[in-house]
Amino acid sequence: MYMGNSSLAVGLMLLFVRLVSGVDEVAAAAAGGGGGAGPMMRADFLLANRLARTPPMGWNSWNHFGCDIEEKLIKETADAMVSRGLAKLGYIHINLDDCWGASSRDTEGRLVAHARKFPSGMKALASYLHSKGLKLGLYADSGTRTCTRSMPGSLGHEEQDAETFASWGVDYLKYDNCLNKGLDAEERYKKMSDALLRTGRPIHFAICEWGKEKVATWANYMANSWRTSGDIRDSWNSMLLRADRNDEWASFARPGGWNDPDMLEVGNGGMTLEEYRSHFNIWALAKAPLMIGCNIPNMSNETYEILSNEEVIAVNQDKLGVQGKKVKKDGHLEVWAGPLHGNKVAVVLWNRGSRNATVTALWSDIGLDPTVAVMARDVWAHSSQYNVTHQISADLDPHASKMYILSPR
Ligand SMILES: *[C@@H]1O[C@H](CO)[C@@H](O)[C@H](O)[C@H]1NC(C)=O
Ligand SMILES: *[C@@H]1O[C@H](CO)[C@@H](O)[C@H](O)[C@H]1NC(C)=O
Ligand SMILES: *[C@@H]1O[C@H](CO)[C@@H](O)[C@H](O)[C@H]1NC(C)=O
Ligand SMILES: *[C@@H]1O[C@H](CO)[C@@H](O)[C@H](O)[C@H]1NC(C)=O
Repeated sequence: MYMGNSSLAVGLMLLFVRLVSGVDEVAAAAAGGGGGAGPMMRADFLLANRLARTPPMGWNSWNHFGCDIEEKLIKETADAMVSRGLAKLGYIHINLDDCWGASSRDTEGRLVAHARKFPSGMKALASYLHSKGLKLGLYADSGTRTCTRSMPGSLGHEEQDAETFASWGVDYLKYDNCLNKGLDAEERYKKMSDALLRTGRPIHFAICEWGKEKVATWANYMANSWRTSGDIRDSWNSMLLRADRNDEWASFARPGGWNDPDMLEVGNGGMTLEEYRSHFNIWALAKAPLMIGCNIPNMSNETYEILSNEEVIAVNQDKLGVQGKKVKKDGHLEVWAGPLHGNKVAVVLWNRGSRNATVTALWSDIGLDPTVAVMARDVWAHSSQYNVTHQISADLDPHASKMYILSPR
């Protein structure tokens, strides 16, 4: 099922169909291979906003803070992103989720910031973030109210709300799916996509439709990222389910538009460090948006060490932009892999079971010529093995994984 050279050709053909006819035959591609087209062809496929050539990175308030957000917290988070060096590693989006706004629109029908929580307003917050090289993300809903019901929804107000966001200097919009009156999802999301593009301000459009209605097959044409599942929780099983769901749509990801298995839970306390490392490995390999979801100012050193692993981030941000996939499964033992630029391959060996185990990837599992010798870089041990042939193996604790970059010699 993984793209060797033969299914690379299939991937190219499917992409050609998509470019020429714009039809959804690509649905068939979800099942096998695909996604292996060259970067030049995919570059033609960026949205008009030209954003998200690589998956977006940053922070979102929801997983740790829920509705409990206010200006001071956001500024502290931004300050910590910069002072701890995370901004420099690429985590530049500071995204407010639900509950940033007032409960009703103003007399002109505009959305307004919550007066007590954000007394300086969103324009001032955007300026603050921009002055630090960061970007402001907001949340809105494609129905009548947001999911917490604390703010008005944007249904029927798409133009006005997009203009409001642009006038504040917003850079990213997460657009949710609550209270949508059963109206067609593609139409609702297309309206906001068009409205954002019309403002002329490049605003990353992140569809949050929870992976209903085969979202990857149409979001692909109008958004920079799209959620492939319901909300993640801070547990091993919730994380696994999202990893697997997201994997089904791998062939639809490309520079400019990414599958999104939801924000990271790393650092929130519900999983072990090994589990969080696996969470981060798989999100990075799958070219998921890397949105940190913990308390940044107070994060532990262990959490920091996971989130700041530059070699793992480099896999996520690789310029080839092909989503890595599950390529082999033997009970609870799995191999995930994907191509990187320069004929390199990223591979994750993952023990999802509850006992120690050895996980092995054969070159034939991961699209490498069986005769090739590689340098294998362990991105957590930060060490390399030279002249590795035929296969790579790791002895793994329960729920642990290792990620390697294989460079053919
Ligand atoms: C971080 O911890 C300190 C000390 O416990 C506390 O005063 C502060 O409010 C915390 N900051 C956040 C953002 O939770
Ligand atoms: C965490 O890291 C900082 C900076 O690297 C260091 O000064 C501090 O001692 C570490 N804290 C612990 C508990 O190891
Ligand atoms: C690489 O490994 C193969 C097989 O293990 C061996 O025959 C060969 O001599 C090695 N080459 C180098 C340069 O070490
Ligand atoms: C396997 O299990 C034992 C404990 O039963 C542990 O000490 C050991 O380090 C484990 N991990 C590996 C990778 O062998």
